[in-house]
Amino acid sequence: MTATATPISPNVGPDATPHDAAPAGVAYPKTIKSFVRRAGRTTTGQAKAFEELGPRFILSYTGQPLDAAASFGRSAPLILEIGFGMGEATAHIARVRPNDNFLCCEVHEPGVGALLKRIGEQELENIRILQHDAVEVIDHMLAPASLDGIHIFFPDPWHKKKHNKRRLIQPALVAKLAARLKPGGYLHCATDWQPYAEQMLEVLGSDQLLHNSTPDGYAPQPDYRPLTKFENRGLRLGHGVWDLVFLRRSA
Ligand SMILES: C[S@@+](CC[C@H](N)C(=O)[O-])C[C@H]1O[C@@H](n2cnc3c(N)ncnc32)[C@H](O)[C@@H]1O
Repeated sequence: MTATATPISPNVGPDATPHDAAPAGVAYPKTIKSFVRRAGRTTTGQAKAFEELGPRFILSYTGQPLDAAASFGRSAPLILEIGFGMGEATAHIARVRPNDNFLCCEVHEPGVGALLKRIGEQELENIRILQHDAVEVIDHMLAPASLDGIHIFFPDPWHKKKHNKRRLIQPALVAKLAARLKPGGYLHCATDWQPYAEQMLEVLGSDQLLHNSTPDGYAPQPDYRPLTKFENRGLRLGHGVWDLVFLRRSA
């Protein structure tokens, strides 16, 4: 999905302090965000899904450690997804893996509405949504060794060199993600942008806590990840797709 809105300034995240609100003499936080606030229309169906299903399936961003068992109403392996877009793959995976809990972060409101709608249509029980910057969720709500898996599918590629710093897959974030995986837990990324795939391979391959599940580099597409409309369109245009699956070392 390509961003169409004007990029936000690095400090303008969902909870960022507006520039004119910082006290005199206090430095503004300079957080570079991996997303832009995109314009997008919430459909009537999505609005209805927000109203009817939001209270049950949307979690509040509290900034406090998450009690996953309480949030899902059961204990089960916990998978974090960052940036689910319109939730097509998310809903599919939750359906084919009913024994796992999926904690799914997305900042794009119509996307949240679209996933809620799928939850209703497909009668899914094992998804909870956080409509918030996943980086802040990782920092403040997820304890070390609390995740069994992480999905990051087609993260914004930030093609231009001057925007590459906005990419999610960078050493600092990957170190945080690796620390939140249980030993043996997995990090699964997919991209259709070759330079980003190469960056992913290098960054994940350099993290001390991770090792590649596929000795010679990119992984075969795991069977739970479906080919989405977005991906099919890319494949028709002749784009490649690269999956990477890394595992957290045991010690
Ligand atoms: C290119 S889209 C891909 C969506 C989906 N995974 C797919 O395969 O179609 C990337 C999505 O990640 C979301 N995103 C980027 N950074 C994020 C962050 N820090 N927290 C939550 N969502 C984020 C964007 O809003 C966007 O919807």
